[in-house]
Amino acid sequence: MKIFLIGFMGSGKSTVGVDLAHILGYRFIDLDEYIEQKHNLSIKLIFETKGEDYFRMVENETLKEVCSFEGDFVISSGGGTSCFYNNIDYMNKNGITVYLRAEVATLVSRLVESKIDRPLLWGKTKEELNDYIIRVLDERKKFYEKAQIIVDADIASPTDIAQLIVSAANV
Ligand code: S3P
Repeated sequence: MKIFLIGFMGSGKSTVGVDLAHILGYRFIDLDEYIEQKHNLSIKLIFETKGEDYFRMVENETLKEVCSFEGDFVISSGGGTSCFYNNIDYMNKNGITVYLRAEVATLVSRLVESKIDRPLLWGKTKEELNDYIIRVLDERKKFYEKAQIIVDADIASPTDIAQLIVSAANV
């Protein structure tokens, strides 16, 4: 079984993914970290030196590569993975997709702390971050909402969210 966690930056995909993989005894793969290790470059540097289009191509290739691995695993995708190259349809065909849905206010408060590592958020004030999230979430929602399972990720702890996913996915 392959479980894909999808959703906006700051929705908790990586934290929940680690807990979920632990509960199920599955391997955990963070797609961004896998890309960084494979290319020996940070996501930040890939964006900076090669641009977003290149990153999206690499992201699509890497998603397919990790999907070909044997065994059970939980993958936390990047916030944009679902929205390019029909990746959401690919993930839906290859396993169970889970959208960690979070309110704009939750995302703003989390991302204001961690925007340094996220190239799409560089240099934004809190107000600009808020407007960016409203606009981009609105564009991306149609992809995220193709997930087979949708879980609210605002209040519950990562472990509780992981438990909810275990029940909903029936794994
Ligand atoms: C991106 C999200 C990031 C990373 C890249 C682009 C996006 O992943 O893949 O910076 O387009 O939303 P996280 O969602 O893990 O921050």
